[in-house]
Amino acid sequence: MCGIIGIVVSKGAIKERLGSVLRKCLKNLEYRGYDSVGFAIINWNNELIVRRSKGKIDEVSRKLGFDDYDGHTGIAHTRWATHGKPSDVNAHPHIDCTKKIAVVHNGVIENYQELKRELLMKGHVFTSETDTEVIAHLIEEYKKKGIGTYEALKEAIRHLKGAYALAVIDKDEPGKIFFARNTSPLVIGIGKNEGVMFIASDIPAFLEYTNHVIVLNDGEIGFITSSQVFLEHINYGIVNVNERIRVVDWTPEMAKKAGYPHYMLKEIHEQPLALSSTLAGIGSEAHKLAELIASSKYVYLTGAGTSYHACLIAEYLLNDLVGIKATAFIASEYGRFRKSIARNDLLIAVSQSGETIDTLMAVRRAKNKGAIIAAISNVIDSAIPRESHIAVYTRAGPEIGVAATKTFTTQVLLLTWIIIKAAEIKGELSPKRTSEMLDLLKKIPDIVNTTIRITEPSARKISSEIALKTNAYYLGRGLAVPISMEGALKLKEIAYIHAEAYPAGESKHGPIALVEEGFPVFFTILSDEYKDLIIANIEEMRARGAWIITVAPKDHEKAFSISSFAFKMPRLEYWAETIPYIIPYQLIAYYTSITRGYDPDKPRNLAKTVTVE
Ligand code: F6R
Repeated sequence: MCGIIGIVVSKGAIKERLGSVLRKCLKNLEYRGYDSVGFAIINWNNELIVRRSKGKIDEVSRKLGFDDYDGHTGIAHTRWATHGKPSDVNAHPHIDCTKKIAVVHNGVIENYQELKRELLMKGHVFTSETDTEVIAHLIEEYKKKGIGTYEALKEAIRHLKGAYALAVIDKDEPGKIFFARNTSPLVIGIGKNEGVMFIASDIPAFLEYTNHVIVLNDGEIGFITSSQVFLEHINYGIVNVNERIRVVDWTPEMAKKAGYPHYMLKEIHEQPLALSSTLAGIGSEAHKLAELIASSKYVYLTGAGTSYHACLIAEYLLNDLVGIKATAFIASEYGRFRKSIARNDLLIAVSQSGETIDTLMAVRRAKNKGAIIAAISNVIDSAIPRESHIAVYTRAGPEIGVAATKTFTTQVLLLTWIIIKAAEIKGELSPKRTSEMLDLLKKIPDIVNTTIRITEPSARKISSEIALKTNAYYLGRGLAVPISMEGALKLKEIAYIHAEAYPAGESKHGPIALVEEGFPVFFTILSDEYKDLIIANIEEMRARGAWIITVAPKDHEKAFSISSFAFKMPRLEYWAETIPYIIPYQLIAYYTSITRGYDPDKPRNLAKTVTVE
């Protein structure tokens, strides 16, 4: 959570004012948090200017005149509050008593209260409730020993416990941004033009200016100037920077809205492209993971939110297609398996960002027990892939909308491909049947394209009615349960309508008590063994006055005849339907959010990457 950007420029290297470049880059990080914003700039007279306020980037930058400030060194921050409520004083950057050092931080300093007590005793004056402020004062304190800012930051780091991505500037050493990373993400951007250097929480921040990046590892610390990167590991010494530079193939257009009113809508429409890119990117690592699965007795899967729903689909398919015992668990509930995960068990960790702390902690704990860890992620070199034995990437391109859409369908596509391959390796599927199934997967991008075209007008139409509701059920059986869970999560998180998913057969064991005239119930029906059985569940709901919306194969006349609203979907094999069948739910959530007057890209209380446990 929280977005950080830092830029150092030399005279004449960029045409715009530094404040304006900081604001533009920060805007690309808004998905990481947006309750307060601030910047610190060292201007051309080497004065330190700090401005910060509660609110979103556009409103705050207008209020504080972001674009009017110029200088050579600047850091900026968009916040997602963890310690201290969103307010002007808790907004970053935080400064020390001498008002020379400014710090922006993403993460949580676990021992900040203890450090704060010690600093208060030494006479430091604190102005915020944040954990971050201790870092500015700690650096100030160590500088009193007569050492430079970098050495003081190093000293400070040794005393910090917890997660941090830090960018620090100091009026005493203008022209440098000092940084450190532990657990929270941080990347360096090497400017295409000589004399510009960036540091940020994520690559899209500076993609307009450069695609040459260094992804920092935990324990790394250093500083940038307008022309140089100094990097070392706190324990292992100096790092050869040239060996670490990577060129990413994301274009700035991929990270922008491309004419759509919201990133979420753009990302929904981008799914055919993203899915094609996932298929095109399948290589040796995916094959290796299929082999690992085929040779495993037991497979665990873990993730959070939408990524957990992808795990549930994989769990079902591992049982159904490969005949392997598999269990998906919510990453923050690792404790359920603490005792049973054993040496050489396979754990597949699914995470779009690769940085979700709950998933990362589950990975670390399972790794300590000797488990083999495989990561499925969208962000190359992010923490979870880096800490895993094997990493397979979805290659969906950057996802900016807080609600996961294209990253879910690409996760499911990739996992389904790997599972089919594992089934072939294990002898559960013949080579002929395997190639038939993989051929069907190759058609998914086109099928999704058609599905978006066909379902979007209906989703828009029905959203005006859904927008008036306060509750909804999403019911399905078998593989349709995780699809229902994902549909309900989308409606909850961006349209703020209470939505719950249940296995349809379970609904009569309690949930049905809530159903009354007009209560919306979404039924997802796949072409599987449950397609007729679920009719009885629809009838039960209908008898109690429920408003039935059905997403089912287009020839399921029986289901449509007892529904109030129909999404007629392509009939495929059940295991391939998971991907197109989520599309109407993504669109319904999007248009309902718009109808209710919300911003679907920035749902309240949420951040794209959750880096606190
Ligand atoms: C829902 C959503 C979240 C994420 C979850 C895990 O739309 O986006 O539930 O799926 O926070 O994030 P990753 O996949 O980055 O680990």
